[in-house]
Amino acid sequence: MKQRKIFAALAAGLMMTLDASAQQQFTINARPGAPIQETMYGIFFEDINFGADGGLYADMVENRSFEFPQRLMGWNVFGDVTVSDVSPAFDRNPHYVVLQPSGHAEKRTGLENRGFFGMGLKKGMTYEVSLYGRLHQLQGSEAKLRVEIVDDQDVPIDNKEITIGTSLWKKNSVTLTSDRTVEHGLLRIFLDGAEGVDLDHISMMPGDNWHGLRADLVKDLEDLHPGVFRFPGGCIVEGTDLATRYQWKNSVGAVENRPLNENRWNYTFAHRLFPNYYQSYGLGFYEFFLLSEKIGAAPLPILSVGLACQFQNKDDAKNAHVAVDDLQPYIDDALDLIEFANGPVTSKWGKLRADMGHPQPFGLKQIGIGNEQWGEVYPVRLEKFVKQIRAKYPDIKICGSAGPSAGGEMFDYGWKEMRRLGVDLVDEHYYMSPDWFLKNAGRYDNYDRKGPKVFAGEYASHVKGMDKQPTVAMNNFEAALSEAAFMTGLERNADVVYQATYAPLFAHVDGWQWRPDLIWFDNLKSVRSVNWYVQMLYGTNKGTNMLSLTQNGKPVEGENGLYASAVYDKNTKQYIVKIANTGTAAQQITLNFKGAKSLGAGTVTTLHSDNMQATNGLDNPDNVVPQQSSVQANGNSATVSVGAKTFAVFKF
Ligand code: AHR
Repeated sequence: MKQRKIFAALAAGLMMTLDASAQQQFTINARPGAPIQETMYGIFFEDINFGADGGLYADMVENRSFEFPQRLMGWNVFGDVTVSDVSPAFDRNPHYVVLQPSGHAEKRTGLENRGFFGMGLKKGMTYEVSLYGRLHQLQGSEAKLRVEIVDDQDVPIDNKEITIGTSLWKKNSVTLTSDRTVEHGLLRIFLDGAEGVDLDHISMMPGDNWHGLRADLVKDLEDLHPGVFRFPGGCIVEGTDLATRYQWKNSVGAVENRPLNENRWNYTFAHRLFPNYYQSYGLGFYEFFLLSEKIGAAPLPILSVGLACQFQNKDDAKNAHVAVDDLQPYIDDALDLIEFANGPVTSKWGKLRADMGHPQPFGLKQIGIGNEQWGEVYPVRLEKFVKQIRAKYPDIKICGSAGPSAGGEMFDYGWKEMRRLGVDLVDEHYYMSPDWFLKNAGRYDNYDRKGPKVFAGEYASHVKGMDKQPTVAMNNFEAALSEAAFMTGLERNADVVYQATYAPLFAHVDGWQWRPDLIWFDNLKSVRSVNWYVQMLYGTNKGTNMLSLTQNGKPVEGENGLYASAVYDKNTKQYIVKIANTGTAAQQITLNFKGAKSLGAGTVTTLHSDNMQATNGLDNPDNVVPQQSSVQANGNSATVSVGAKTFAVFKF
């Protein structure tokens, strides 16, 4: 019986390979076409879902400067602890804590910080605890502090003493080591003597941080090989009101004196409210530029156009937006940012960059003005920026916005205005269903080639109702496969689509407001979503030139559930073909490379799951990951098989 089954299966397989009519024939013109932009397949960073503080920014202490409106939010204090701002250490973050002895040798005064949803401590890792301190009111000559890390059973793991022997503010640091891995540890500091102290900017950094950033999350970005890095958002560029918009000038210089900002995402969204969500700006524009350099992505800062978040403010509301005639400080912010990134060290902002440790220019080539703006209030303001940026920096490319929707009246108006203003790139946003992504694989086939280029600046496939129903699966294989299929259309249209960034990038499993997101993490580890693997496969196989790929003279965009595109890589001299099979049957496909020489052996990397709801989680990070095997071409053609529900990348 078993033998008969095997024979039947073999026969079916043989018939499939021999029956030419069951085979799809794809023709790939081997002559290199339009160049693929180096900026293709990038990342979009926004401080949402605790992406910065509590996420990529490695400082483990929440409210380290005591500037949250409830000054002690995040801290558990005991004994005699008060808050003061008299003779502060930092003028833009003036509050600090005063610790006074409790008046009894057995009673303690001190404070504890549990970080963001607990502090993750790793076995063998060192932690640098630093704080600014001074003797309180010159009461004595020396005060002692005990600094300790504590595990989730309240057992101290390691401790060190700090002696404060001056009445002038001074930075003190100790290094603690954890001998165990703890999910929800804490930092405790208490007076260990009879003298009082003033303390400010209490910070705790893991020893493996990279310029203040979490090493594992930096690696997750690096491994994507992104072409462009968009920052700092998203709606936080705009702010809930103008006062809380992202102001890059507040995010540079000494970290201790970067003023705290209220995060636009601390309000209720998807039924989740995080009133403790603030921006320390520890991850600021200097760090964003450094990170771009490290991960090899072109930096793309987006700045406020003078409109507070249009979702949160009616356009005619008083003070929602800056009057057109009052925009000059905002325009100056844009011009000064270009100087900060590229200016000589003799210039005001170039000098600050050099003082911060980077005399070489960052090589900024483009800037976005306005995030996701719409309506008449936008172009009338953008126009003023365009004129002055063009006049002073004619080589800098400008990105404008087409609004929050994938199409419709508002979108068309946005594009019309962007053309009129002659911006270089138009930022399109689409958070749509998997079905939409499949149906829109040909979206760019007929786009105007003469106008501005496309920047797909925020996109992700959303399985129905996801944001309103937290129980719905997130970042699942269904979404990822539809993105892979859609992206063949980005690749095929490389002459008009210049860059694309999946969004959002990060989410803390205990602090998310929006999903899906590319990378999830807790305080100890991170996980690369299935969607991450799709982005990585595109980012590491983007090639240098597009190739025409057709079936019966037409692009492959949905027939038999297949989506395909091809590129050539001049550097490696490889042909790369991407095929997403969204159907329920495996497909036999002959790839005919017209004009190519003999291709020889190649590889295929596949991403597949039998379960469309499959996800990668912190506990099963390798649930859906790419698999590689070899394929063989015959002359200049190769007959390959692409399994049902599979994304495959072939390389010859
Ligand atoms: O990515 C999340 C949000 O989606 C962004 O902040 C905003 O630009 C868009 O509406």
